[in-house]
Amino acid sequence: MILGIETSCDETAVALYNGNSRLIMSERIASQVETHAPFGGVVPEIASREHLLALPKLANEVMQEAGLAWSELRAIAVTAGPGLMGALLVGVSFARAAAAVHKTPVLPIHHLEAHLLAPILSDSHANITISANILPYITLLVSGGHTLLIRVAGLGQYSIIGQTVDDAAGECFDKSARLLGLPYPGGPAIAALAAAGDAQRFKLPRPMMRNPTDINFSFSGLKTAVLYQVRKLEKQKEKQSTWQADMAASLQLAVAEVLVAKSLRACKQHNIKHLTLAGGVAANVYLRQHMTNQAKDLGVSVAYPDLKYCTDNAAMIALTAYLHLQNGYKNVGDWDANPRWKLGASNTI
Ligand code: KG4
Ligand code: ZN
Repeated sequence: MILGIETSCDETAVALYNGNSRLIMSERIASQVETHAPFGGVVPEIASREHLLALPKLANEVMQEAGLAWSELRAIAVTAGPGLMGALLVGVSFARAAAAVHKTPVLPIHHLEAHLLAPILSDSHANITISANILPYITLLVSGGHTLLIRVAGLGQYSIIGQTVDDAAGECFDKSARLLGLPYPGGPAIAALAAAGDAQRFKLPRPMMRNPTDINFSFSGLKTAVLYQVRKLEKQKEKQSTWQADMAASLQLAVAEVLVAKSLRACKQHNIKHLTLAGGVAANVYLRQHMTNQAKDLGVSVAYPDLKYCTDNAAMIALTAYLHLQNGYKNVGDWDANPRWKLGASNTI
């Protein structure tokens, strides 16, 4: 039994993972979205305070629901980075205090490694996603802070083969949503509005697509293109909801086309037949459909996390600790919360 704790950004999450059944026994997640929404983004100081208020209560609820004593835990797993320093410290301090009292090991988990392993949570043959028969594979990790193509050679063996040179894909959704007067976080708001829109109406750029071998991304120009279009449209007399939906759909199409094209280009370049998606933007249903369809033509299989395990959660944190313990994890010695912890070849826990 492993207790996972996640407080790196604006979700306080706790989950209990049973390594024998490979199931989540109980989990809680307290979203701070409504608290931050009036500010149009996450306010770090407020995030830390909210974590502090929510975490002890959620952790006790999870333990009680599973009928488990703290002393029965094999380990406590906590996100140690990357993320907001103050927010990370709440989770790390809580984990260390609980571990000291109950004499339990604490494992510092890399938030991005946990995201990229999240598809395993939905895998009925647990572990298949990291098992030898599909290795190496490529993960497209798309969240509010990251857009990465990662070559996964095994547990803890990650090489970044492509990344954004400016904004992340989620950031592009969030910033564009703000321009359209939509609430934070922008991704789900844009996806909802796009359903009623005409994706062909606005010609938005497909950044960095021209060089046929490039597998890096750029999204800041896309947001700027939305800004110019919005300024023009606001001067016209058309009812706002109509062009807004068309803009949301056009943006969603542009982002999805680039993400799909570059991911499949990476698979071709590296001669890889398996792809997984992870991170908040992987919850975008249009992106998932588009990716699955295009990948099929190339003979590439695609695996996704459940929708609820795309965005920040603690189940992926507990799972990551479990996989490392199975893999012969040894104590890492001194460590601390690290807001800029880099994901690289074998540098995880
Ligand atoms: O992984 P995550 O919860 O937090 C980070 O570690 O960043 O990702 C949050 C990001 C936000 O930018 C949000 O707008 C985006 O994921 N997102 C989506 C959707 N759901 C969340 N973007 C597009 N479509 C969605 N359905
Ligand atoms: Zn995340």
